[in-house]
Amino acid sequence: MNNFVFHNPTELIFGKGQIEKLEEKVHKLGQKILVVYGGGSIKKTGLYDKVVTILKSNGATISELPGIEPNPRLTTVKKGIDICKQNEIDWILAIGGGSVIDASKAIAIGAKYEGDVWDFYNRKAFPTAALPLGTILTLAATGSEMNPMSVVTNWETQEKHGGYTTYPTFSILDPENTFSVPKDQTIYGSCDIMSHVFEQYFSHTSNIPLQTRFAESILKTVIENVELAITNPNDYDARANLLMCGTFALNGILSTGVETDWATHSIEHAVSAVYDIPHGGGLAIIFPNWMKYVYEEDVARFARFAAEVWGVDAIDKSDNEIALEGIEAVRSFFNKIGAPSRLADYNITDEKLDIMAEKAVPFGPIGNFKKLNKDDVYQILKMSL
Ligand code: NZQ
Ligand code: ZN
Repeated sequence: MNNFVFHNPTELIFGKGQIEKLEEKVHKLGQKILVVYGGGSIKKTGLYDKVVTILKSNGATISELPGIEPNPRLTTVKKGIDICKQNEIDWILAIGGGSVIDASKAIAIGAKYEGDVWDFYNRKAFPTAALPLGTILTLAATGSEMNPMSVVTNWETQEKHGGYTTYPTFSILDPENTFSVPKDQTIYGSCDIMSHVFEQYFSHTSNIPLQTRFAESILKTVIENVELAITNPNDYDARANLLMCGTFALNGILSTGVETDWATHSIEHAVSAVYDIPHGGGLAIIFPNWMKYVYEEDVARFARFAAEVWGVDAIDKSDNEIALEGIEAVRSFFNKIGAPSRLADYNITDEKLDIMAEKAVPFGPIGNFKKLNKDDVYQILKMSL
């Protein structure tokens, strides 16, 4: 196990009716609030009205930034930064999925920075100050509600980069706010959660039994609950379990003392930078192919994964056979829940493979389980066509 420091300052407020906690936040964090949200789902569900009522009845002055796109755009982030600077905003409240939260994180650091906020995403600057940020999560997927990362797309240059920004001060997770998540987003979110676990599970770090079992538990819990949530979107327990899995898959616990990978995320970000596809859909396509490409780096790790997570029967089989069956089990599961399996499902052909491979490695080789250069990425993308 590697040395590590674990410090996660986000206050996680979980469960039914917890939105009432907003009241104390207005008194604590200030009354000038920028409310950030997406394309309108929160207006349809009534969540917007509930939030505004609580904020206003506690004396808040609200500015709004609606219309955050899935795969949020730098141009929209900049609008939010201008609002904060012009209105001396005290704190930001993000209501939505990962895109709304990521855009709000960018706004929070951009509001305290004189330069171009994109500097934080292309590694020219590191944030040293941020406005406080609260989130009300409406979709189990990214873990952004309890981590400092943010992913923003510069559509003009077709670049999608993740950057270290700021931890949310608090996040409210009420499973009922995810009842309205449509089937496709429930699938994408679940594939994203599982992918976050894969990125941290496939590691060469030795002596990590607890981290390994944490990771396997999250995977098994997602596997048990996705179809329940798809079949009955109002299944509180299934939605609660997926929400918890999403948060704990990427709040730093799984990576304590572990060298992690993240190559597949870089590849997916390059694909969505060029084709604007849903993040979880892209991961469902690419991850099993990454696994096939790299599994020989540690066949025993993949064999364990197959047996523990997917129940692959090991009797009379070599580790290699067991490992390959485990990878097939991932593909079959993604297919079973209705996730896409090929880039062709998004009408992506080999036309821009080279461009995407180039964009996946902007800062040099990616990944740790196996270091991948542009040619490796090209091969994985080709396998994914
Ligand atoms: O915009 P609205 O109208 O809210 O609709 C959204 C959006 O169309 C809808 N939705 C969300 N909650 C809903 C709902 N619809 C009905 N009822 C609800 N309760 O779902 C659609 C997708 O939302 P989005 O926020 O884009 O999805 P997700 O949470 O999957 O976020 C994806 C973004 O996060 C980044 C991805 O790259 C992508 O840009 N990631 C962020 C990470 C992080 N910050 O740690 C890590 C991830 O690996 C990921 O890269
Ligand atoms: Zn992800």
